[in-house]
Amino acid sequence: MVHELTIHSMSVLGRLLPDQEINPALSLNVMGLEFKSPIGLAAGLDKNAEVINYMTHLPFGFVEVGTVTPKAQAGNDKPRLFRYPAEESLRNRMGFNNQGAEEVLINLKKADRRGKIIGVNLGKNKITQNDDAPKDYAYLYQKFAPFADYLVINVSSPNTPGLRDLLKDAGLRQIFEAVDAERSIMKRPLLVKVSPDMALEELSSVVGLVNEYKLDGIIATNTTIMKERGEGGISGKLLTKKARETREFLLKEIKNSKSTCELIGVGGISSYNDLMDFWRAGGKLVQIYSSFIFQGPQFLYEIEEQLKIDFKKRGVKNFEEFLHSVKN
Ligand SMILES: Cc1cc2nc3c(=O)[nH]c(=O)nc-3n(C[C@H](O)[C@H](O)[C@H](O)COP(=O)(O)O)c2cc1C
Repeated sequence: MVHELTIHSMSVLGRLLPDQEINPALSLNVMGLEFKSPIGLAAGLDKNAEVINYMTHLPFGFVEVGTVTPKAQAGNDKPRLFRYPAEESLRNRMGFNNQGAEEVLINLKKADRRGKIIGVNLGKNKITQNDDAPKDYAYLYQKFAPFADYLVINVSSPNTPGLRDLLKDAGLRQIFEAVDAERSIMKRPLLVKVSPDMALEELSSVVGLVNEYKLDGIIATNTTIMKERGEGGISGKLLTKKARETREFLLKEIKNSKSTCELIGVGGISSYNDLMDFWRAGGKLVQIYSSFIFQGPQFLYEIEEQLKIDFKKRGVKNFEEFLHSVKN
C-alpha cells in the first residue's frame, strides 16, 4: 500500500517537476546510445513504467523499467520486501508482480522521457514452463523493441521458481535463438542480466553465448540468495563483494574473448569508491537500486560533485578521458 502510494505521488510529481541539469561532461556513447550520465536506475523500482517522468527528472542517465512479463501477474504474497537499515540492504521476494505487457506498453508510450535512455527488462510468466520460456521472451522483444532504447533478458531473479535454470547453456541458447529471429526484423541493443550466485564456468559460458549471438551486453548482477536471512534475494551492501567479484570476472572474460560487449554494473554500488572499483576494472555504465532507496537522490548529487572534483584533479574534460585516466 505504501509502495502504491509512493508510485502514485511520483507519477503526479513527475509531470510537474523540471529537468535537473546534468553536467554535459558526463555524457557517453555506449552501444550506439547517447547517455547523459553513466548512472542509471536498475530494474524493479518502476516495474510498470508508471514513473518514468519522475525518474527522468532526476540526474539519472538512464532508467530500466520492468521486469515485465507477457501477462499480468500478482507476484508473491506480502510481506515480500524486508529492510536491513543498519546494513543498507534489502531482501525481496516480489516474484515479478506487474501489469503485463499490454498495460506496460501503454504506460511506456505515453511517458515523457526527457531525452533519457529507457531500457525494458523482460521476464517470463510464472505459469510459463521453462521449455516455453523462449516464446515469452521473443513475444516481449517484438512487442517492446519499437519503443525501448535497449532490452534485457532477465533469467536471474531468484523469485520465480526454476528461472535461474535458464541461465545454464541450453536454456539460454534457446532463448537467444528465439529472440534472434525477432532481432533480424527489428534490431535494438540487447543484454542479458546475470546472477551473482553463478559458478565461474557458467559465467564464462554466458560470455561465450553472448558473443555467439552478438548480444550487446551483460548486466551484472541481480540479487543474491542468503539462506540464513530467509527467502528471496539480497541487494545493497550485503551484495557488494559478490557482485563486484562477478563483474570483475566477467570484464576479464569479455576482454580475453576480444568481445565488444558492454557490462552494465549493478549490485551493492553505494559509494564513490564502489563506482571507482568498477571503472578501474574497465566498466562504464552503472545502475543503482538499494542505494537509491537508502540515500535517495542525494547519492546522485554527491556522485556528480565527486566527479567534478576528480575531473579537475586529473585534468580531464569528459567522461571518456576520465575512464582512460582511472585505468592508467
Ligand atoms: C524490491 C526489488 C525488486 C526488484 N525487482 C527486479 C526486477 O523486477 N527485475 C530485475 O531485473 N531486477 C530486480 N531487482 C534487482 C535490481 O535491479 C538489482 O539488480 C539488485 O537490487 C542489485 O542492485 P542494488 O544492490 O543496487 O540494489 C529488484 C530489486 C529489489 C530490491
